[in-house]
Amino acid sequence: MTDNQEAADAGDTTPSGTSTLPLRPRCERLSGPKSSVCSRSYFVVVMVFFHVYIINVIALLFYVHYSSGQEDASRSSDAPSGGHQRPESRRPPSKPEFARDVSLTRIEGIRVGHVQKVSLVPGKVHEMRTLSLKPLLFEIPGFLSDDECRVVMQLAQLKGLMESQLMVQDGQEELAKELNLSPEEIFNLLDINQDGQLQLHEILTHSRVRDGIWLTPENLREIYAGLKADKDDNGLLSLEEFRLLSNDAFQRFLLQRGVKRSQLVRNSRHTWLYQGKGAHQVLQDIKERVTSLTRLPPALVDLSEPLQVVRYDEGGHYHAHHDSGPVYPETACTHTRLAANTSTPFETSCRYITVLFYLNSVDGGGETAFPVADNRTYDEVSLIQNDVDLLDTRRNCDKSNLRVKPSKGTAVFWYNYLSDGRGWVGEQDEYALHGGCVVTHGTKWVANKWINIDPDYQRQARYQQLVSQLSEDEDDEGLTLNTEIQNPSIHQDL
Ligand code: OGA
Ligand code: CA
Ligand code: FE2
Repeated sequence: MTDNQEAADAGDTTPSGTSTLPLRPRCERLSGPKSSVCSRSYFVVVMVFFHVYIINVIALLFYVHYSSGQEDASRSSDAPSGGHQRPESRRPPSKPEFARDVSLTRIEGIRVGHVQKVSLVPGKVHEMRTLSLKPLLFEIPGFLSDDECRVVMQLAQLKGLMESQLMVQDGQEELAKELNLSPEEIFNLLDINQDGQLQLHEILTHSRVRDGIWLTPENLREIYAGLKADKDDNGLLSLEEFRLLSNDAFQRFLLQRGVKRSQLVRNSRHTWLYQGKGAHQVLQDIKERVTSLTRLPPALVDLSEPLQVVRYDEGGHYHAHHDSGPVYPETACTHTRLAANTSTPFETSCRYITVLFYLNSVDGGGETAFPVADNRTYDEVSLIQNDVDLLDTRRNCDKSNLRVKPSKGTAVFWYNYLSDGRGWVGEQDEYALHGGCVVTHGTKWVANKWINIDPDYQRQARYQQLVSQLSEDEDDEGLTLNTEIQNPSIHQDL
């Protein structure tokens, strides 16, 4: 320690000490009337100076040592792995973190056509065939017995079915107003190839659905003609032509002309059947079989939406759609919304898996179509080309990559989300696009079992904790848990 050494040297005032030698001659030289620099007070000042110096140096050493230790600790908590502390540990302690102790099983598809045997009910072996890998999609014939199919249809009829889609929905207009976009901005968004003209398919890609009404290229031409929007009649809209169209011109035109059921996105009736304690045994059995099939934790299946039973009459259809939307950081899941205590304009149902049951065999049409299953790429824009809209299940089911023919008792199931690679829900699988083709003869009955999982593990865990607390409280009062508390989102549908 050179600092200490210097201090010791300077402090050694013994007359015989060699270290004091350099001071001696100076004192001698300065002897006489100005010899006060060698006085006792001079010595005291020098001593005080050196002591302060030593204390400063020690304090500095302590500071350097202490602060580098802290840096090491924060560096190790930033590291994705290997650190002792998890990154979450820097969040405020008021929000307790749940340790990730669950990993979601994902069934392997192996390859298209691969068949695996599964045991779902005692004394019976089912065969599960891989139909596609994008999305990961399986078919299980005989999943439900004929009796079970009959009971589900009867229970649905007893409960009563309602129209799946109301005639007018006006959510889109509000969103456009909220975003406050100018006609130029909207025009630019729509003009995909940026040629300064709006082709029909450019309009349809962004707004195939107008107030719940499905637009076809012919509809759009009719609307242009009715509104005299396309002045030069070249089938394209220039910015000037587009500007002249008021925001609600489309809506007013469509409503004035009247809308047929076949022009809606979805033309069916449906109801919801609760599958918890006290429900019909067939409904509880189906839920348990779905749990065995998907190999997911039973609590996740228990807390999912009830069974949706759908009836399509002749002419019924459901244009291609996703059962659940993409998840951005600001998106809330409908089922965990209560526990999330955040308000966000974006919400989706977070249906990780869809299990679709065919309750009858249909006389004509009614297939479930997957327009882009196992496509090499997914490109939203190329879904409409040369007036052919692949999402239109009234016209273009024959052009879908995959169609499943309804067969009584068969179940198909697929994952609407990819894996995050760490055993939890990842991004939306765009290839999971599907729809119900038009029923050409007879009636079609299906049921949907959706398994809701929040891609945000913490939100899912908080939700489950909240529900289990509620159910404990209710059990204490001798009541059973009410579905509306379990799943507030389905309130409107029940
Ligand atoms: C649905 C659905 C397909 C079909 O109900 O969400 O996509 O074949 N149904 O009925
Ligand atoms: Ca264009
Ligand atoms: Fe669907």
